[in-house]
Amino acid sequence: MPISIEKIKSKQITVGIVGLGYVGFPLSLVFAEANVRVIGFDIDENKISAIQEGKSYIQHFNHGRLQKVRENNRFTATSNYDQIRNCDAVIICVPTPLDHHLEPDLRFVVKTCEALAPHLQPHTLVSLESTTWPGTTEEVVIPMLEKSGNLRLNENLYVCFSPEREDPGNKSFGTKNIPKLVGGANQKSLELAVELYRLGIENIVPLSGTRVAETAKLFENIFRSVNIALVNELKLICDPMGIDVWEVIRAAATKPFGFMPFWPGPGLGGHCIPIDPFYLTWKAKEYGVQTRFIELAGEINRSMPRYVVSKVQDCLNQANKAMKGSKILVLGLAYKADIDDMRESPSLELIKLMQEKGAIVDYHDNHIPEIGVTREYSFLAGKKSVPLSNKYDCFVLATHHHYFSVDHILSFKVPIIDTRNFLPECSLVFKA
Ligand SMILES: NC(=O)c1ccc[n+]([C@@H]2O[C@H](COP(=O)([O-])OP(=O)(O)OC[C@H]3O[C@@H](n4cnc5c(N)ncnc54)[C@H](O)[C@@H]3O)[C@@H](O)[C@H]2O)c1
Repeated sequence: MPISIEKIKSKQITVGIVGLGYVGFPLSLVFAEANVRVIGFDIDENKISAIQEGKSYIQHFNHGRLQKVRENNRFTATSNYDQIRNCDAVIICVPTPLDHHLEPDLRFVVKTCEALAPHLQPHTLVSLESTTWPGTTEEVVIPMLEKSGNLRLNENLYVCFSPEREDPGNKSFGTKNIPKLVGGANQKSLELAVELYRLGIENIVPLSGTRVAETAKLFENIFRSVNIALVNELKLICDPMGIDVWEVIRAAATKPFGFMPFWPGPGLGGHCIPIDPFYLTWKAKEYGVQTRFIELAGEINRSMPRYVVSKVQDCLNQANKAMKGSKILVLGLAYKADIDDMRESPSLELIKLMQEKGAIVDYHDNHIPEIGVTREYSFLAGKKSVPLSNKYDCFVLATHHHYFSVDHILSFKVPIIDTRNFLPECSLVFKA
């Protein structure tokens, strides 16, 4: 029976979720917990076996949730695309990185569409959730899905774009209660997609089309990138003036309207904020528009690790030490507090820059016991988290995990560069 509003409402559907990472995994849980049958697809066999064994591979989604939906036979996982033919709706959650020239790398979306096309049945709803440039759904996804020959938008194919707004580790907002934007490629697609997402998500926001939804997602992350760059620049101004930038921001935030606090740090991390803005930059070029704000923000945010390293050098200088040969421990490898995600983390860049200057650098992060393989920092693969100790010349606090204890950190009597304003003012602490 083809997909319909009634079929969705009765939950007699199977949802395929392609890409079971930080976005696709929790989304699968949400649908499965709503008593919808979910088939997860991934090319990573480790993730497939972990799911089949009921083991969560993302720390902040505990095993209990996965085990429960597995016991109820609501969630299975496979790498076999044949099973797409059993799905009434397919949601794509694959990565959308940048290449070395800061240009969109749609390789994963393209490969997914190629793999889906031969297996999709007529009257299937396809939703793209991967963050991408405005026009991707219409210009790339739909033509690729139609290539198989038996699917046509406005006849027997329904397509929408619905961006993911997941904030890993956020205890108040998760997949279920973050309002879900949905833009349909046509009215029927929109209606079906709204009904689908309503099964597991509390608040659905229908939009006039896929391009608005694609642009809204980019704008949200550009907004963060630009504001973070602004406070990072403010930090660079306040530092030589001897003004506490964190107190300045706290003071400004007492204004009950027209101001929203953002906080400086050692740079930007994660799979979103450092990357997504450049998807709009790239597309804007096609229209002869230069995205100066976006590029300036990227430039400032990317320069922050170098600023932190200059503060480490100042700190070592005070003890008559050189960076070369000094032993430095970076506290926190994840790109933000309380998560196990180190993608684009400024800590990786800090380690690289200090190693290049001859320092011997270790890291400590209970959330990331070992550094995995990354494209940019492959030389760090296999490096393991070590405990704090007084054999170091300097600590650099790069991420403020809540398990960190101020007293424990200060007890080693090692000078500390604090990039997060985590530690109290004292002779050991240098804010950066
Ligand atoms: N992580 C976040 O917090 C977040 C938040 C909002 C939006 N997003 C966006 O969501 C998308 C996914 O991000 P993520 O963080 O979940 O990525 P991820 O790397 O954690 O997961 C992506 C998964 O897709 C799989 N994959 C890649 N190619 C595949 C293919 N051809 N077939 C099946 N599986 C394939 C990978 O093996 C991986 O498991 C990206 O566009 C990202 O920008 C991420």
